[in-house]
Amino acid sequence: MGSTRVFEINPDEIDQKAIDEAAALLLDGELVAFPTETVYGLGGLGLNPASASKIYEAKGRPSDNPLILHIHDFQQIHVLANGVPVEALHAAERFWPGPLTIVLAKKAFVPDATTGGLDTVAIRMPNHPVSLALLEAVGEPLAAPSANLSGKPSPTRAEHVMEDLEGVIAGVIDGGPTVIGVESTVVDFAHGKPIILRKGSISKEALNEVIPGIEDATSNHVHHSPGTRYRHYSPNARITILPADEKETLALLQKEMNAGTRIGWIGPVCPDPDRMTWSFLANDADAYAKEFFSLLREMDRQQVQHIVVEPVDEVGVGAAVMDRMRKAAGI
Ligand code: TXA
Ligand code: MG
Repeated sequence: MGSTRVFEINPDEIDQKAIDEAAALLLDGELVAFPTETVYGLGGLGLNPASASKIYEAKGRPSDNPLILHIHDFQQIHVLANGVPVEALHAAERFWPGPLTIVLAKKAFVPDATTGGLDTVAIRMPNHPVSLALLEAVGEPLAAPSANLSGKPSPTRAEHVMEDLEGVIAGVIDGGPTVIGVESTVVDFAHGKPIILRKGSISKEALNEVIPGIEDATSNHVHHSPGTRYRHYSPNARITILPADEKETLALLQKEMNAGTRIGWIGPVCPDPDRMTWSFLANDADAYAKEFFSLLREMDRQQVQHIVVEPVDEVGVGAAVMDRMRKAAGI
């Protein structure tokens, strides 16, 4: 394909002309990446099988891993889904617009090309002025997976999208770095008791206030969540999760650094900053969430060979951070 157009749009001062131009590309069946509050999404017309297929092709994504439909109007949930349970409506009322994706029984017209052949559809209303303006201008749901090549870390800046998809997609809207940095929480309401299929910044504790007794997915639910089967967030370097304050950690790092290995460190305190190739001091789970994917890409640029990450407490967004860390580490 030709070149990828970059639309710079300040989220605090929406340039409607640029939004309309990006919307026109989408309505023509092209793909345009755009910022959401979580990560950048790779947008295409969600109800158009040809656009959906283009998304899979651009990302190199397995065709059985379904896409999320993004909406800007609450009522669209009833257009896309059948028999929406009252708990799902309560969750949407509480957390939309926001980083919550709701899986429901789909209406027949929602194409298999979007849902990976499943009889359910995932729906989310993003909380970002650019996404909402774009959705309104397009006037129909946009399918938008994270705008990275399949297997790579999700993009939190327009530059990351360009790294992976420049020349492959028609456009990208640069609205600056995303605020949250990890993808939305995905909750399945289509198979009885609501289950968290993917952890995100809306924590189990927060969901529990609206859906008492909500549970995390177990291995029994894997067939409801195809996305969790695939390799994720992999930089070129290997990743290990290690506590900073243990003697063994320091001994291991020193041995590797003596052997000339380029080490990258992510954690609150860096044990040997002078000899690390790269280090990032993350003070809390929010900072890890916001920077983690971006750091994985940065470490690749710095040709880091071994990334060492300190774990965080698995409360609030910390649970999602640890989930992404483990997937990146391949455990
Ligand atoms: O924050 C986000 O959710 C971002 C932004 C762009 O909105 N999008 C995103 O999309 O992370 P993606 O495609 O990278 O991840 C979607 C996840 C996958 O794990 C997929 O398997 C799951 O949602 N999913 C989508 N439709 C589903 C369905 N019908 N049933 C179960 N899981 C579904
Ligand atoms: Mg993704």
